[in-house]
Amino acid sequence: MITQKEFSRRRNQLMRMMGKGSIAIIPTATEQIRNRDVEFPFRPDSDFYYLTGLHEPDAIAVLIPKRPHGEYLLFCNERDSEMETWTGRRIGTAGAIEEFNADDAFPISDVDEILPGLMESCERVFYTMGSRPAFDRRVMEWVNRLREGVRTGMRTPDKFVSLEHLLHDMRLYKSRSEIRVMRTAARVACRAHRRAMQACQPGVHEYEIEAELLHEFRRADMVPAYSSIVGGGANGCVLHYTENSAVLNDGDLLLIDAGSEYDCYASDVTRTFPVNGRFSTAQKALYEVVLAAQTAAIKKVRPGNHWNAPHAAAVRVMTRGLVKLGILKGKPADLIKKEAYRSFYMHRTGHWLGMDVHDVGDYKVGGAWRELEPGMVLTVEPGLYIPAGSRGVARKWWNIGIRIEDDVLVTKDEPDVLSEAVPRTVAEIEALMAAG
Ligand code: GLY
Ligand code: MN
Ligand code: MN
Repeated sequence: MITQKEFSRRRNQLMRMMGKGSIAIIPTATEQIRNRDVEFPFRPDSDFYYLTGLHEPDAIAVLIPKRPHGEYLLFCNERDSEMETWTGRRIGTAGAIEEFNADDAFPISDVDEILPGLMESCERVFYTMGSRPAFDRRVMEWVNRLREGVRTGMRTPDKFVSLEHLLHDMRLYKSRSEIRVMRTAARVACRAHRRAMQACQPGVHEYEIEAELLHEFRRADMVPAYSSIVGGGANGCVLHYTENSAVLNDGDLLLIDAGSEYDCYASDVTRTFPVNGRFSTAQKALYEVVLAAQTAAIKKVRPGNHWNAPHAAAVRVMTRGLVKLGILKGKPADLIKKEAYRSFYMHRTGHWLGMDVHDVGDYKVGGAWRELEPGMVLTVEPGLYIPAGSRGVARKWWNIGIRIEDDVLVTKDEPDVLSEAVPRTVAEIEALMAAG
């Protein structure tokens, strides 16, 4: 778990970058209604949680560097024994100060009264515009209220600065404790994938396999980081298949893309394996191509290489492999230039991973691919998808969808695969499934 000391260190780092005369306003997520009195499970806003560690809805963090009466303010729900009987404990304003180290705390119901006054002495407002339209309007109302007072000598902030620019760059570099949390999340995801491999057999439904994944997540106090993808046969060729309703057939592959979230940090792992425990010749041939592509891509996850190096490596290996198998025809170099592989490989080889599955952080800096640096975590997830009816492709390849995805930490030398504790090679997978 991330300690309060680390949350405080993050706030101080951000405030140093913001400088005096600034205010940052960071609201958390709001509860979302599922139907009538039922809400979706609450998940805090990642930026808010990154700076506070607070898991309650209806809260706003405010940072004002160098403010003499306190730099870190929290607006939150007041304690209310009747409400707490229904919805559980709230920290209240006293808890915000005592447990969450706010310099001062106010009831969320007073925010319209208090916040404009706090903004008054600031020139710059750091705020993420555009992701919460209702909250954007309130921020504008507060600024307008101050503008109305200009004639009476009040100052108004005259610059809006995007908070993401600073904060998302911080989030891209994972601390030691963040890596520890992410490693724990990945370990549980691996356990879930192993359990799924062992539970799989012809006649079982995709949702039954999903239940095995959930079992491992929940018993480790984790939740899915995203809707688990459990797709047998043709469903493995649907990139975001989440129905998970079909029966698993003998002779088909099963693609599982499932990751757990721990303390708001995600893992993101994919394995593909035969429903009956033995790869067919065609499945094995294609699987080996994807595996070789992933191995080559992971090797590129080193400091100094740029963001696109793993993708370029995966594309090279897969294009050559597809030519060898007769699925693509031509010279690999030409096919790569023409992006001929895109009929079978239509996504990229990875993304940043962190609090969000597709985590924040720029992929390009000054128009060029960003260099990888120690502390960054990314996924490496090549795949090949050949749906039935693919033109010019022999039938034996149809309905084969394969993705292999791991979570990789950039270190100062060798790449560190956080999710390595689940079989990846044909032999390892078949051995585990035979033992199950
Ligand atoms: N699970 C989503 C992804 O792999 O990007
Ligand atoms: Mn991914
Ligand atoms: Mn994934």
